[in-house]
Amino acid sequence: MNFKKVSEVRKIFLDYFKEKGHTVVPSSSLLPAGDPTLLFTTAGMVQFKPLFTGAVELPYTRATSAQKCLRTTDLENVGKTERHCTFFEMLGNFSFGDYFKEEAIEYALDCSVNHLGFPKEKIWITVFENDDEAEKIWLSKGIPKERITRLGKKDNFWGPAGDSGACGPCSELYLDRGPEKALPDCGVKYECKPGCDCDRFLEFWNIVFNQFNQDTEGNLHPLKQTGIDTGSGLERVALLLQGVDSVYDTDELRGIIGEVEKISGKTYNESTKVPFRVITDHIRSVLFTVSDGIYPDRTGRGYVIRRLIRRAVLFARKLDLKEPFLYKLAKSVCDIYKERYPELEKHISSVERTLLAEEELFLKTLEIGLEKIEVLVSKTKSEGSNTFSGKDSFLLYGTYGFPAEMTEEIVAEHGLSFDKKGFEEELEKDRQSSRETWKANKVSLFTGIKTDKTQFLGYDVLEAESDLKFIFSDNKQTSTLKEGESGVLVFSSSPFYPEGGGQVGDIGFIRKDGSVFKVLDTQKENDIILHIGTVLSGNFSDGDKAILEVEKERREKLKFHHSGTHLLNGALRNLLGNHVLQKGSIVSPEYLRFDFSHPSPLSVEEIRNIESWVNESIVRHIPVDTKVLPIEEAKKTGAVAAFDEKYGDSVRVLQMGDRSLEFCGGTHVGNTGDIGYFFIKKESSPGAGNRRIEAVAGPLVVETFQNRFAELTEAVQNLNLKIKDELGEEGSSLSIKTTIPGPDEIRSLFESKGADAVVTLRDLSEKLSVELEETQSKFLKEKKNRESRDFENNPDIIAKVFENSKVIGTAKIVSAIFESKDAKALKGLSDNIKVREKEIVAILASKNAEDASIVITCSSSLVGKIHCGELVKTACEILGGKGGGKPDMAQGGGKEVSKVEEAVRSALEKASSSLNGGK
Ligand code: SER
Repeated sequence: MNFKKVSEVRKIFLDYFKEKGHTVVPSSSLLPAGDPTLLFTTAGMVQFKPLFTGAVELPYTRATSAQKCLRTTDLENVGKTERHCTFFEMLGNFSFGDYFKEEAIEYALDCSVNHLGFPKEKIWITVFENDDEAEKIWLSKGIPKERITRLGKKDNFWGPAGDSGACGPCSELYLDRGPEKALPDCGVKYECKPGCDCDRFLEFWNIVFNQFNQDTEGNLHPLKQTGIDTGSGLERVALLLQGVDSVYDTDELRGIIGEVEKISGKTYNESTKVPFRVITDHIRSVLFTVSDGIYPDRTGRGYVIRRLIRRAVLFARKLDLKEPFLYKLAKSVCDIYKERYPELEKHISSVERTLLAEEELFLKTLEIGLEKIEVLVSKTKSEGSNTFSGKDSFLLYGTYGFPAEMTEEIVAEHGLSFDKKGFEEELEKDRQSSRETWKANKVSLFTGIKTDKTQFLGYDVLEAESDLKFIFSDNKQTSTLKEGESGVLVFSSSPFYPEGGGQVGDIGFIRKDGSVFKVLDTQKENDIILHIGTVLSGNFSDGDKAILEVEKERREKLKFHHSGTHLLNGALRNLLGNHVLQKGSIVSPEYLRFDFSHPSPLSVEEIRNIESWVNESIVRHIPVDTKVLPIEEAKKTGAVAAFDEKYGDSVRVLQMGDRSLEFCGGTHVGNTGDIGYFFIKKESSPGAGNRRIEAVAGPLVVETFQNRFAELTEAVQNLNLKIKDELGEEGSSLSIKTTIPGPDEIRSLFESKGADAVVTLRDLSEKLSVELEETQSKFLKEKKNRESRDFENNPDIIAKVFENSKVIGTAKIVSAIFESKDAKALKGLSDNIKVREKEIVAILASKNAEDASIVITCSSSLVGKIHCGELVKTACEILGGKGGGKPDMAQGGGKEVSKVEEAVRSALEKASSSLNGGK
């Protein structure tokens, strides 16, 4: 085999399939566009999911791509094995109702042997246990039977990606690397085959024969059009072609390792390879995900990114990297990939900023967390237990920022198992929040104590040194707080913002030499700032000097939401009128909520105008001014005061040009332009004649739209699919064809248009929601029409009606009872029946969910003898309802569904008697 660089492999693959008529499609974002159930793009086929199921019009029937993917299921193995990676690139060729098994197999063999250069005689194959067809094709291509293995569902059935979608049996190509690779861990020595866990056979290509669509309940439905989904891990193929044992020794990953060597000053070798590989993999993953706009966070996708960063920081200690370093590494990794993935360079500064902030945050507690873990592990062992308790892992998570999975990995090294359930129970308990309990039991700490107010420094700085003046524990004053104890610290000055004016309190750290206090909340009593939290290490005593550090990223988000709230208030008063009074607000990192007096719900138009007014204020880049004025003077400015606040002798007045003027002690942006964007998510009523607006501001707006459009995409695709399934090609005029922007497009739109993007995207999402609703009802109507058409013209049904006929002289009476048919359907059927006989009376009824309906018709020649209106009237009396009509056609119904038989019988008897001349 000839050595080939990763970039060459990528090119050979894509060129090959291009030449075979495939459209080369760029990699999609790591944030899946239309699948809210899938955290990340995990395979090449993810962006093509709707093409496989037929939910969208096909732009092409053959495609090929090199897709960036992220899989974190085996995260704890990454670095410790030769081949596990979280981020990888997947090469793929795809067919949507175009070619199937024969060509897919042909292409796989031709590309790997004649273009990539794998020796055919070393290629082994697996097929799904009952896939005779695939085996036959491989045989016909010259792969001998002894090199074909059949495996079961676990190995040879793939998909779907996420909760639902295309899936099917698969067939894999393996390379035999020689028996020497089998030892020492191969159970069957030299006789193993693909499927054996040893290293001899390495899978490098997987062809999925997509035949089914799995629904969210796990049921498989045959796909209307079969498809091909191939996945070939680029790093794996490169490993084989470069003749190395580990993906980390392929050229591009080796390049990253080289950068880690430079930064750490350590050499990559057998004893250092684990931390090198962990860092190499994780930096690549976070560079790509953060570039795609997925930021570290407490939950969801962001939590996975946080775990990756923290795991890299943890392993970096083994290379003596104890200061932030990932943010420096990002640029050199970006340089390796930027040509193929230009988005990396475009977002590099945001990646660097994000990484630095995350690293700094975690490094604050890492050291003491690790010491704590040692103590807890010894304690667990000395108690004779081999399970690390949920309570202890929660302590590490809540106070030291150790992701649970990381703790699990660390304690496993000490031979302990991990109580996952216990951890989750603790997490749940915490959600009921100790913070709330503190507030509920809030007692005055300063009764009988005279002291000056705390000087608040947090408008200008987020870090400051100050003197510790008071310590409280269990609501009582004390002189020292020791490791593990919780309490309240009071300093002479502080950058920590105490909850007030709707803005939640800051969190962060207070440190002194080796001692660390974690601030979980900040409150105030009169003007004294209370730092509420726990001592993580060391102890704190009266008179100590300490450094107080507020968590920066969180404060950023608070500032966008607080300034956004002021502009919202300004918009409401300007657009709705000065009767609008603030009735309470919440300014949190996640969102803002604003309650105000207003008599009626806001119209869609009003909401849009309010939002635009705020965004316009952002676009104008208005400087935010603050002045502290004596209260009387402040009142003269006409500034708006919040309804639930008490004001002292002097107040802070915050002004945003002519857009907002309010009394406010909160923390804000320096210029309205810093907010970036503002979006109203919801308008409702909290009761008592007030209205409530919930909104987001800053970068969260982008994420909110990405999520909203992912949900819309899924809903549109599901509906289109349903239409296609139930109405066939005729339904295609109904299906929704509006183009829905994906996560990348949404982000670019914000980058290019700023706050104006909000209007564009709001318009589009509203239009889509309306279109969805309208299409759904059109579809249901059409479905019903179709059902009644099928019912009316169904020869079996007509024959059945005639089975039940009574002949009286030259006339015939037919009757039938159906289920869930409306009068229109019954009428349609009766028209079809009437044309079949000269003299006929048809009595047709239906039992429906809530009522019964009846239609009676007769041939015009019988009019005079029969009066359908009268017959229906008789029947409807029995049904407990009403009905009537003309002599030859009448209809009615009633609620007494159980009496349908009786009603039909009675109409039938009456008709017979009329035909018999009243006898
Ligand atoms: N979807 C399959 C896989 O990920 C083939 O592309 O292996």
